[in-house]
Amino acid sequence: MIIQTEEELAGMRAIGEVVGATLRAMREYAKPGMSTRELDEYGNQLLLSYGARSAPKLMYNFPGWNCISINQEAAHGIPSEKVILQEGDLVNVDVSAELNGFFADNGGSFILGADLQQLQPLVDASQRILNEAIQAISADQRIAETGRRIQQAARAAGFRVIKNLVGHGVGRSLHEPPTEIPCYYDPFNRERFKENSVIAVETFISTRGAYVEEQADGWTMKAPKNSFVAQHEHTLLVTGGKPVILTAANGI
Ligand code: CO
Ligand code: CO
Repeated sequence: MIIQTEEELAGMRAIGEVVGATLRAMREYAKPGMSTRELDEYGNQLLLSYGARSAPKLMYNFPGWNCISINQEAAHGIPSEKVILQEGDLVNVDVSAELNGFFADNGGSFILGADLQQLQPLVDASQRILNEAIQAISADQRIAETGRRIQQAARAAGFRVIKNLVGHGVGRSLHEPPTEIPCYYDPFNRERFKENSVIAVETFISTRGAYVEEQADGWTMKAPKNSFVAQHEHTLLVTGGKPVILTAANGI
């Protein structure tokens, strides 16, 4: 959406804070031995306490409240009482929700406890690349440049990017135009960021492969063979200068 009034900005700030605070609390609550279902329920109780509703449930009838993807899962993992978090797991939590008709989207990967799989460099690269890409976004700039920046930074760090998972516009629904903010340079994408638009920028940084695959459950996107994928995502307001990160309450 393009923000046109103070009320709209206040609405976006409010839901941005809710999803950021919820993601942060879920990250801190996650412990080895806990099921991803339990972590999901904890997150949903927080969303409800703010008066917010899970966006994946509301928009797509996702079989959970938040997407929780473990290890080889890259995105849209379904919380389950059968999936028990283990020390050293690569965990991705993606929280998106609605409050008073406004939506925000915020995600992040982290290592649970000790870095037994030596994936901290991947997680750190994803987080750093996202924040650098965001700081370089301003109105009228080509969306393709953000993809180029993410792809080049990933390469420089010895990683690749996933090509079939992308960032997107957000605001009055979870997914809005611009429909694709990719992590790679797409010369055919001539679109530009619009002033006062609200977007969700996401990194999908991979140790090897470039395309995730949808699993038989119809939701989970699995990392390419032998790869791990880290994702970080913020919802932000595009301005003529530096962007305003609306999900900064997440803390990273
Ligand atoms: Co998300
Ligand atoms: Co998103």
